[in-house]
Amino acid sequence: MKILVINGPNLNILGKRNKAIYGDKTLPEIDAMLKKQGQSLGIDVISFQSNSEGKLIDFIQEHSPQADGIIINSGALTHYGFSLRDALADSELPVIEVHLSNIYAREDWRAKSVIAPIARGQISGLGWRGYVAALRTLVGELKGETEG
Ligand code: DQA
Repeated sequence: MKILVINGPNLNILGKRNKAIYGDKTLPEIDAMLKKQGQSLGIDVISFQSNSEGKLIDFIQEHSPQADGIIINSGALTHYGFSLRDALADSELPVIEVHLSNIYAREDWRAKSVIAPIARGQISGLGWRGYVAALRTLVGELKGETEG
């Protein structure tokens, strides 16, 4: 089983960027944690980050045919990235949307996600733990687990 973990614009500077909101873990630290979690779940985790919507779409188009699910933090593209949303929908994979911060407790414009309607679900405001919860949930569902 293979899960794609995709991070969008400005998430490459996690650890430096507004730590009070986004926490102090860097993206390589989060990716390493997810890879380790993946190993203990017996699955492959492939991580990718780009600041460009086109590159995110290219990655999804190239890798989704060999993948089983997607975890994505689309950064600010969450709020207006229709091409990214279409690429995720076209992948026909289950998608879990993750946000480090609680997008409903910030500026009004962050409360709208164009990704959410095509996502299996969304985790918002739980920091790096949101990615781990998303991975466990997605893999549990894909494996058809009926108990926690
Ligand atoms: C974010 C929330 C977005 O509104 C913001 O533009 C980000 C990060 C989060 O993880 O909380 O870049 O997706």
